[in-house]
Amino acid sequence: MQRDGTSFVQGASRGIGLELVHQLLGRQPEGHVIATCRRPADAADLQALTARHPERLRLIALDVREEKTIAAAAEAVARQTKELQLILNVAGILHGPDFGPEKKLEQVQPEPLRHAFEVNAFGPLLVAKHFHGFLRHGQRSVFASLSARVGSISDNRLGGWYAYRGSKAAQNMFTKNISIELGRVAPHAIVVGLHPGTVDTDLSKPFQRNLPEKQLLAARESVAALLQVVDSLDREDSGKIFDFRGKEITP
Ligand SMILES: NC(=O)c1ccc[n+]([C@@H]2O[C@H](COP(=O)([O-])OP(=O)(O)OC[C@H]3O[C@@H](n4cnc5c(N)ncnc54)[C@H](OP(=O)(O)O)[C@@H]3O)[C@@H](O)[C@H]2O)c1
Repeated sequence: MQRDGTSFVQGASRGIGLELVHQLLGRQPEGHVIATCRRPADAADLQALTARHPERLRLIALDVREEKTIAAAAEAVARQTKELQLILNVAGILHGPDFGPEKKLEQVQPEPLRHAFEVNAFGPLLVAKHFHGFLRHGQRSVFASLSARVGSISDNRLGGWYAYRGSKAAQNMFTKNISIELGRVAPHAIVVGLHPGTVDTDLSKPFQRNLPEKQLLAARESVAALLQVVDSLDREDSGKIFDFRGKEITP
C-alpha cells in the first residue's frame, strides 16, 4: 500500500473505525485521512486526534441512513482531493437500545430489519454511488467494507440473527456487484469485504461471555491485521470477502 495519498474512513467515531483512523495516521506519515461520523461535535476521541494532526486528519459529518449527508460529504471531499487510495466502510449495527439479534422467527420486527439493512448493506452501496469517482485514477486503490463471517450463507450452521446476517449477506452481494462495475471503469480499484474477527467493541460486548479463550481480539490487533490484508490485495481479489488473517470467506 502506498504510504501517502488520502484514505477515507466512514463510521469512525469509536470501535474499529476509530482504531483504523489512528493506525492509518501512524503508518502514513505523509498521508491524509478523512474520517466521518454521524455527529462530529460529540466525537471526542476523533476530535482529540484531529487536534494532534490538524494538517492530516479531517472530520466530516456523514450518517449512512441519510443519503444527502453522503452526497454532501462527497462534495466536501472533492474540494480537498480528486483521488482516494483507500475507502473503508466501517459503520455497522447488530443491536440497539430496543432491539437485539433475533433468536427465532417470532422476534423478527420490520423496523430493526430496516435499520440493519440501511446501515450494514445500503450504507456501503450509497457510499460507492457517491464516491466511486474518487477511485477512477491510474493507481491501485481499495474500496473495503467491514463485513462479518455470519453474513456467509454457506457458513451458516446456527441460524438466527436474521437482520444482521441478512444485511451482511446483502452487503457482500453489493460488494461483488460494485467490483464488477468498477472493474470496467476503474480497473485499478480493488473492492472487497473484510471480516475483522470478534473484536472487543460495543458491538460485541453483549456476546463476549461464552467465547473460547483468545478468540476476542483487541481493536488494535484486528486493525493491524486488517491493514496488512488491505496491503496484500491485488486485482484478482476484487469482489471477494476476506477475514483478518487474509483467508477468503466463501459467500
Ligand atoms: N466487533 C466485532 O466483533 C465485529 C465482528 C464482525 C464484524 N464487525 C463489523 O465491523 C464494523 C465495525 O464494528 P465495531 O465493532 O467497531 O462496532 P461499534 O463499536 O458498535 O461501532 C459502530 C460504528 O458504526 C457507526 N454507525 C452506526 N450507525 C451509523 C449511521 N447511521 N451512520 C454512520 N455511522 C453509524 C457508529 O457511530 P455512532 O458512534 O454515531 O453510533 C460507530 O462508529 C461493523 O460493520 C461490524 O458489523 C464487527
